[in-house]
Amino acid sequence: MLTATSFSQLFLLSFWSILMRSCSSEATVQPPQTTELVLYSQDIFAGPNANDVPVVGIPGKAWSFTQFGTVFAADEPMTKTPDPSSAIIGRAQGMYLISALDGSSVEAVFSIVFSNQAYNGSTLEIQGTGKTLAKVVEYAVVGGTGKFRFARGYATLETIPVNATHAVNQFNVTVRHD
Ligand SMILES: *[C@@H]1O[C@H](CO)[C@@H](O)[C@H](O)[C@H]1NC(C)=O
Ligand SMILES: *[C@@H]1O[C@H](CO)[C@@H](O)[C@H](O)[C@H]1NC(C)=O
Ligand SMILES: *[C@@H]1O[C@H](CO)[C@@H](O)[C@H](O)[C@H]1NC(C)=O
Repeated sequence: MLTATSFSQLFLLSFWSILMRSCSSEATVQPPQTTELVLYSQDIFAGPNANDVPVVGIPGKAWSFTQFGTVFAADEPMTKTPDPSSAIIGRAQGMYLISALDGSSVEAVFSIVFSNQAYNGSTLEIQGTGKTLAKVVEYAVVGGTGKFRFARGYATLETIPVNATHAVNQFNVTVRHD
C-alpha cells in the first residue's frame, strides 16, 4: 500500500521526470522545415557544349536513351527561369542509367549542387526511377547537406523540349529538412 510519504515521493519523482523530459525536448527537437523550390536544368545532349553524354553502354549496341545499360554523365546548369541566360542557382551533377531491359525506364542518381546566395555549398541528393519517354517523372529526394541536412522529399521533373539538342527540365522540389 502507498503511504502518504511514498505517494508524495512518487508524485515528486514523476513530476521531476516530466519536467526533465519537457526541458530536454525543448532543447533538442526542432520541427522540420518544408522548402519548395522551382528551378530549371539546361540539358544539352549533343554538340560541342554537350553536358549530358553517354559514357558507357553494352558493346555492340547503340549507347542511347532507350537502350538498356547505357550510362550518361551529366553536369547541367540549373537556372532561375527556363531561359538559359537567367541566373544560375546551381548544377545538377550525376548520372542516368537506362535500367529497364526494354529501355523504358531510367535510374537517376545525382546531386543538386547549389551556388546561389541562399543555399551556396548545400546539396540535395536525388534518386529514383522514371519512364524514359515520359514528359513528367518524379524522383525521391533522399538526403542533403548544409542547409538541407536530413532532407527528405520529392522532385517532379517536366521536360520541355527546346530544339533537337537542347531541353529544359522544370524541377519542382518539395523537401523537409532541419
Ligand atoms: C559561394 O561560396 C564560394 C566559396 O565557398 C564563394 O567563392 C562564392 O562567392 C559564394 N557565392 C555566393 C553567391 O555567395
Ligand atoms: C538550340 O537552342 C539553343 C538555345 O536554347 C541554341 O543555342 C542552339 O543553337 C539550338 N540548336 C539548334 C540545333 O537549333
Ligand atoms: C511545377 O510547378 C509549376 C509552378 O508552380 C506548375 O505550374 C507546374 O504544373 C508544376 N509541375 C508539376 C509536374 O507538378
